[in-house]
Amino acid sequence: MLDFQMSRELRPNCPAIAPSMLKCDFGDLQTEINQLEAAGASLLHLDVMDGQFVPNLSYGPMVIDRIRERTDLILDAHLMISDPEKYLDDYLRAGCDWITVHIEAVPKPDQLLEKIRAAGRYAGIAINPGTPVSAISALNGKVDLVLVMSVEPGFGGQSFIPEAVEKVIEVRKVFSADTLISIDGGIGPVTIPEVASDVNIFVAGSSIFDKPDYETAIREMTEIARSNSSPHNS
Ligand code: DX5
Ligand code: ZN
Repeated sequence: MLDFQMSRELRPNCPAIAPSMLKCDFGDLQTEINQLEAAGASLLHLDVMDGQFVPNLSYGPMVIDRIRERTDLILDAHLMISDPEKYLDDYLRAGCDWITVHIEAVPKPDQLLEKIRAAGRYAGIAINPGTPVSAISALNGKVDLVLVMSVEPGFGGQSFIPEAVEKVIEVRKVFSADTLISIDGGIGPVTIPEVASDVNIFVAGSSIFDKPDYETAIREMTEIARSNSSPHNS
């Protein structure tokens, strides 16, 4: 395990906007990463899809490895895959800093989460819109991050599901104050204020990559998140 240890600072200044790389130009990764770094991003959200857990296919550890070579930003891997246990070592080796698995894919994730933490990374658990918070509440203390899906996972560009507002409030009540809460799907200037009092990390795809200027998009959303946030979100 020791060869997987890394020394990067894993906690960003919060609230933070996490660009979801699903919509980036993969033909010119270097320029995209340079632009996001210059725009002030402190982490990159990497959506891994296997065509099985979700009805879409994206990329895996080989692409993440290439991203790792190009940046020191925190790499936040969101594994939308059926068998994360089988491939965990590949994602550790690729240099992911945060590894989040879905409770719907791994109903008993304790060992997997321990393994992620033992490798010096943040362990995250994600929940789909249809899954109640009670399905993950026993994981308090065992995760560094809870990722609340505010769309059905699989595709960028969907509309925010309003029930996610109540869900983040519940997650904040159940999980310890140092647990990061991330929200993913349909996030932008209009939806951020609805959840900003309980959320630390705002995953944003379309609201960054559909804009001509990443810096303006990230700065505006960070300001909106900050002005609506609570003390426990920093
Ligand atoms: C969806 C992914 C998201 C997605 C967000 O399954 O987990 O990270 O890329 O995209 P937007 O911000 O466009 O909803
Ligand atoms: Zn995601």
